[in-house]
Amino acid sequence: MKGFKKIGALVLCCGLFIGNLTGCASIKSEKRIIRISHAQSETHPEHLGDKYEVQIYPNELLGGAQKAIELTQTGAIDFVVAGTANLENFADVYEVFSMPYLFTSEEAYHEVMSDTEYMKAVYESTDEAGFRVLTWYNAGTRSFYAKKPIYTPDDLKGLKMRVQQSPASVNMANAFGAAASPMSFGEVYTAIQQGVIDGAENNELALTNNKHGEVAKYYSYNKHQMVPDMLIGNLKFLEGLSEEEYQIFEEAALLSTEEEMKYWDEQVEEAKNIAINEMGVEFIEVDIQAFKDKVSGVQQEMLDANPSILELYDHIQEVNAKYTQEEE
Ligand code: GCU
Repeated sequence: MKGFKKIGALVLCCGLFIGNLTGCASIKSEKRIIRISHAQSETHPEHLGDKYEVQIYPNELLGGAQKAIELTQTGAIDFVVAGTANLENFADVYEVFSMPYLFTSEEAYHEVMSDTEYMKAVYESTDEAGFRVLTWYNAGTRSFYAKKPIYTPDDLKGLKMRVQQSPASVNMANAFGAAASPMSFGEVYTAIQQGVIDGAENNELALTNNKHGEVAKYYSYNKHQMVPDMLIGNLKFLEGLSEEEYQIFEEAALLSTEEEMKYWDEQVEEAKNIAINEMGVEFIEVDIQAFKDKVSGVQQEMLDANPSILELYDHIQEVNAKYTQEEE
């Protein structure tokens, strides 16, 4: 976790630098405390450990993603890290990321998301709601996991599966034949344990960092989504920064993304090892094409219902095609 401490230090440095820039006579006594909320545990790659200016609230301490976004909207906190599904109600362009099988390769996903210039317009789409995205974090590839093994889409039939609280996520799970059950991330463990739901869908870290592997023993690699997490800042706070300060925040945000990316694959491998060897989770390789076929009409339905995703969708398809061609 050394790297994250470094980034924490970097954010801290920025905080101090900003203190200097704004001409705070006494930086020490007038530190601007920056509160950041997220849903992950302290060992997750997104947790930027720090001691001073930046106060980080992991594990949904300030509430689930929806609540934490509201707190960011009002400025009660300054930043939140949340998945794009939570932003759909504020700017419907974000629905695109909930499409099943949107990205056809990790390379295409990373290229699209790392294109800061292109993403700028998307990031600013929530300005009216009072917040803006500064950067993205890799949140891996999502697959279904449950108390029972899922080998084919038919096995999902009637299973109550937790999804993120977004209309598109609900539609997606229902299209797979499951009974979608939207709830906040922090409620999932108990809901599976108590049999309120049969399972959920997420990346591998949910099994270990969030302990879902204790209650759901079968993880099926159907790989239906790559949904990024976003670092979201209160707009008034961001607009209150000088141009130079804003740039520093942007740079620190981008660096934190680079740093998070470095650790992602490693942490997924580690999570798999722990899930298999310590939690008794079985990872199941499935025929992904069968899962794709099951939801093959969903992308077009979503495009018909929401024209504001069309441009980004087409852009993503172009990037997808680049990597598909390279493979051939
Ligand atoms: C992932 C993602 C989180 C999100 C969670 C969820 O862990 O990184 O941002 O909250 O999935 O499914 O709710």
